[in-house]
Amino acid sequence: MRLLMATPTGWRRDGNLPAELTSFVGRTRLLANLKRHLGESRLVTVTGIGGVGKSRTVLRLAHQVRGLYPDGVWFVDLARLQDAGMVRHTIASALGIADRSSRAESETLSEWVGDRDMLLIIDTCEHLVQGCAELVHELLEAAPRLKVLATSRQSLHLPYEQVVPVPPLQVPDDSPLADLFTSESVQLFASRASAVAPDFMLDERNIHAVAELCRRLDGIPLAIELAAVRLRALSVEQILGLLTDRFSLLAGAGRTALPRHQTLRAAIGWSHELCEPAERLLWARLSVFAGDFELDAARYVCSDDRLRSEDITDLVTGLVEKSILLIQSNHAGVRYKLIDTLAEYGEEWLEKLGQARLMRHKHLEYYLSLATRSEDAWSGPRQLYWFIRMRQEHDNVRLALEHALRTPGETLMALTLLSSLWFMWVCCGFVREGRLYLERALEANPGVSKERCKALWVLSYVRSAQGDSAGALEAAEACSTEAVRVGDSRAVILASKMQGTAALIQGDLQKASALLGVAIEFNTDNKELNPGLLPAIVELSLVLLAQGENQEAEPLLRDCLQVCRERGELWVSSYAQWAMALTKLSTGRADEALHSAREGLRIKRHFHDILGSLLSLETTARIFVALGRARTAALLLGALQHNWRTAGLPMLGAPFLAGDHDQCVKECQKALGEKVYLAAFEEGGRLDLDEASALALGDLEDSSF
Ligand SMILES: Nc1ncnc2c1ncn2[C@@H]1O[C@H](COP(=O)(O)OP(=O)(O)OP(=O)(O)O)[C@@H](O)[C@H]1O
Ligand SMILES: [Mg+2]
Repeated sequence: MRLLMATPTGWRRDGNLPAELTSFVGRTRLLANLKRHLGESRLVTVTGIGGVGKSRTVLRLAHQVRGLYPDGVWFVDLARLQDAGMVRHTIASALGIADRSSRAESETLSEWVGDRDMLLIIDTCEHLVQGCAELVHELLEAAPRLKVLATSRQSLHLPYEQVVPVPPLQVPDDSPLADLFTSESVQLFASRASAVAPDFMLDERNIHAVAELCRRLDGIPLAIELAAVRLRALSVEQILGLLTDRFSLLAGAGRTALPRHQTLRAAIGWSHELCEPAERLLWARLSVFAGDFELDAARYVCSDDRLRSEDITDLVTGLVEKSILLIQSNHAGVRYKLIDTLAEYGEEWLEKLGQARLMRHKHLEYYLSLATRSEDAWSGPRQLYWFIRMRQEHDNVRLALEHALRTPGETLMALTLLSSLWFMWVCCGFVREGRLYLERALEANPGVSKERCKALWVLSYVRSAQGDSAGALEAAEACSTEAVRVGDSRAVILASKMQGTAALIQGDLQKASALLGVAIEFNTDNKELNPGLLPAIVELSLVLLAQGENQEAEPLLRDCLQVCRERGELWVSSYAQWAMALTKLSTGRADEALHSAREGLRIKRHFHDILGSLLSLETTARIFVALGRARTAALLLGALQHNWRTAGLPMLGAPFLAGDHDQCVKECQKALGEKVYLAAFEEGGRLDLDEASALALGDLEDSSF
């Protein structure tokens, strides 16, 4: 199988910069200034009015300087985030931090950044200034080599902050004709104009009108872009005439110019008026999405008897042509995004129309139905597809959850949405987020219900994945009690599975064996292959292994792998392969064990399964010792120590895994001698998870270090 998405963040060192979608014009001085300030200061905040080019300039800069930061340039966009309490989490998630441990998130974040030599870009802070300032301060104190570059309409008010205002683009004054052509704003106009009207060329006939237009628009890039797209239907002179009329009306008698932010507002208002009524309505409705969205989502959420679903495709195309929507296409399909300032405008419009609540409800409904579909399909052949799809929709899911949690009458939908997405929290690296939301949603829905039962077993699963076995047990027991009260036998069985998992982590093998056995025996529901039956089988085999009953574990795992193969299930199969590697290793078949471990590890990389990868790497280190490749094992042990740090409790705190780890370290030290071992261990400590996995897979040879 070919990997269809870029390596997820958190596995890489080089950052997560988005591509530049349009050509960039001018700003040579500003960029040089910013570079200098970044050299001298640890926090640079780029300020300026909406649409002036803060985000775009910073993105350009980021691409130019990425080579200067060995640990990468990381980009976090907070534009559509509403909840100040989620700033920390959003940043951690953009950095791809494993998000496993149950420790305070600030600790994990600071520790992850640690001594990394990296640039963190936080785009759009103005609505969350306080939260951003606190976090940035904390991070800069904890991480001596970190630099932060923020964009915000207002500064963060930190004493050591270097504030760099972004002025509008140069506008032509009464300069000689030749200089008009090279003025930045004229260049931007020409560049966007030729994209919509391929015949358009700046020449001596139109240059004066273009220059005047840029002056009228105060050199604000967004305003210039909005005007330029009108060349599709109007001439430069016509655009200029219409805008001049409008501005002089707004400025009132006796005034010749508007303040800049009003210029932009007027340009947006003008652009808005030139849209068809249906396009205007769609523009307003699309503002309920968080960042980007797919066409199907727009069709469902925004349609009603005033906007027919079948017309939405054409309307979206119209908004793309008018530069209201950005279009982004990649291997996974085409997505659209409303430009930030224009989303704000749309949101105000939607409030005025009195449709905000309804649209948010439909947005929630859409993502709830998508989540249900993804859950139903999870155990099947399109697992990887759903993994990628739901990761793409993560921001929209968050927004839908936030809405549901704070809206009376919709909190139960939050619970259902969260529970359906159990695989996203547990399997795809977002355990901490899942826990946070589940705890909030359970609190908001205190009455006993089937929905609560499901959420409780998901919570138990999430906590066990953090190594918090006591918390996991508590949730599983609550699930069991409540499930009996509502007569939900399916939840009782799943509760038993989760209680068994917790017992396994706690090292209570007898209890684990009994509870997992019950879960397996009474599982009759095909739908519960995942998360009930198959993981229970893998876990039971681990129990058997820990009890020394390898002969029984192996056929169990073989059957499990067979079911996985038949169904196209990958995620559990990666765990089954790992358990199989342990079984084979324990019976002296190290070569075969390596094969199984690698099979599992390859799958885990696709799923961003950090916990699973670390567990597999632990086993691979042991296999390498058994194969006489102690140096590779020592490198892996170094990498493991380093990577467990942010991934939560090493070995989940499970005694049977910890014992194997200690044994491996001892054997490795013995084989290499203390000095050589330490050198290799230290060297391995510099490997990120992706590199460590490549080493384990044989894609990266020791000699390359
Ligand atoms: N130097 C430039 N060259 C080309 N395009 C630019 C330039 N500066 C800005 N733009 C374009 O102008 C538009 C507005 O810019 P941008 O989104 O960066 O503004 P902003 O200051 O971040 O606004 P906001 O406060 O709303 O976040 C974008 O479409 C951007 O691509
Ligand atoms: Mg911006």
